[in-house]
Amino acid sequence: MEFPAWYDLSHIWLPYAQMKAVRPPLPVVRTRGARLVLADGRELIDGIASWWTACHGYNHPRIRSAVERQLILMPHVMFGGLAHEGALTLARRLAALLPGDLERVFFSESGSVAVEIAMKMAVQYWLNRGIRGRTRFVAFKGGYHGDTTGAMAVCDPEAGMHALFAGLLPQHHVIDLPHDVETAVALSDLLEHHADEIAGIIVEPLVQGAGGMLFHDAAALRRLRTEADRHDLLLIFDEIFTGFGRTGTMFACQAAGVVPDIVTLSKALTGGTLPLAATVANSRVFDAFWSDDPARALMHGPTYMGNALACAAANASLDLFEREPRLQQVAKISQALAEGLEPCRDMSGVKDVRVQGAIGVVELGRIDDLDALRARFIAEGVFIRPFGTTVYLTPAFTISAEELATLTRAVVKVVGEIQRGS
Ligand SMILES: Cc1ncc(COP(=O)(O)O)c(C=O)c1O
Repeated sequence: MEFPAWYDLSHIWLPYAQMKAVRPPLPVVRTRGARLVLADGRELIDGIASWWTACHGYNHPRIRSAVERQLILMPHVMFGGLAHEGALTLARRLAALLPGDLERVFFSESGSVAVEIAMKMAVQYWLNRGIRGRTRFVAFKGGYHGDTTGAMAVCDPEAGMHALFAGLLPQHHVIDLPHDVETAVALSDLLEHHADEIAGIIVEPLVQGAGGMLFHDAAALRRLRTEADRHDLLLIFDEIFTGFGRTGTMFACQAAGVVPDIVTLSKALTGGTLPLAATVANSRVFDAFWSDDPARALMHGPTYMGNALACAAANASLDLFEREPRLQQVAKISQALAEGLEPCRDMSGVKDVRVQGAIGVVELGRIDDLDALRARFIAEGVFIRPFGTTVYLTPAFTISAEELATLTRAVVKVVGEIQRGS
C-alpha cells in the first residue's frame, strides 16, 4: 500500500509489538459507522471496535455534538476543589445503573488505573479498619487486568502477556476459577489458610477478555460471592471489557445476579471516543474511608480525573443506551455470530467456537504466523486482530447485518484456509 506523507514511524513506540519485526500499522484517516477508512481510500469493516470501545459505531452524531458543546463551554478543569455538572451527573447515572449499593464513583483515565485504584481501595479498606497485612489478592488463571505494575500482578502470571515479569511483581494467589468441585475446593482451601493476608478477590465476570476470550458461567461468580462473604473479603469485578452491554446485559454482574463490592469500568464508557474510567465502590467500602481522620482519605487524584469532555461523551453514550435498542442489537449480533461462525466448528484445526453477547470466538489449536493471519483478514476487507490462538469478533452494536455477515464469512474463509494449509 502507499503510505501518506505523514507516515513516519521512526519516533513512535507501538503497543504490544517487537519493534524490530512489527508490520507497519495501517494508516487510518477516517472512521464511519463500523468502518475504518485507510489513507489509500480502502474501507475495512471493523471487527474489534477499537479494543471493544466503539459500541455505538464510530462518529455517532449525539456524542459528537455533546463533546463539541462541552469543548466550547469548558474542556477540562481539575477535580481537586472544583466540580462540574458532567462528572456529577455521570456518577449519579452510573450509580443508578449498577446493581446494589455500588454508589461511589472515583474517576480516572484508563482501565489499568481504575484497577490500580480498586486494589488500593481494597488494601486501604483493611488499613482503615485497623487491620494490617491484608495486601494480597486472589485472581484467576486466564485473567487480564491491565499493564500498570499493580494490575500486571493480578494478570495470569504464566499464560498472560506479562509472564516475563514472573517473580518480580507483588505476589498474589492466581488460581483456577471455581468451575467444578476440585477448583471450588482449591479456592475454599486457599481462603481457609490465607484469608488473613488477602484484601479481596478480583475477576473479570463471565468473560476473561485479553487473556483469551475465555467464558465461565454465573455459578462461578456466585461461588466467589459466597466465599468472599464467608471470609469477609472484598469482591472486585473488573467490567472494563464486559461492561456496557458487551456480554448481553448492561453489566455482566447483572446476568450473574451477583453484586460485587467494587466494580471497574472503562472502554465503552465514552462510546469509544475519549479516555475515561471509573472505580465504583459500595457503601461498605466507602464507609471505611469516612472519618474525622485525614489519614483515612483515599490519596489518589489523577490530573485528568473526571475530564469534562470525556464525561460529556459518557453521558451522551448513556443517552444512546436509553434511546436506542442497544441490548436488542447485542442479542441479534449474538445470534448472527453463532450462526455465522458455526461452519468453523467442524474444521480440524478449530478447538472451540463460542459466543457470548456480542463476542464471537473461534479458538484454534495453534496459530503459526499471527501477522500473516492478520494480513489475510485485511486482504478480505476486514479488520480482525487474532492473538494467541484466538480469532475473535467484538463489533460495534450498530453494525449492519450485512457488515456482520462479511466479518463472519471472512473468519470462516480464512480459518478454512489455515485448515487446508493453503
Ligand atoms: C478487563 C480489563 N481490565 C483492564 C484493562 C486495561 O485497560 P486499559 O488498556 O484502558 O488500561 C483491560 C484492557 O483490555 C481489560 O480488558
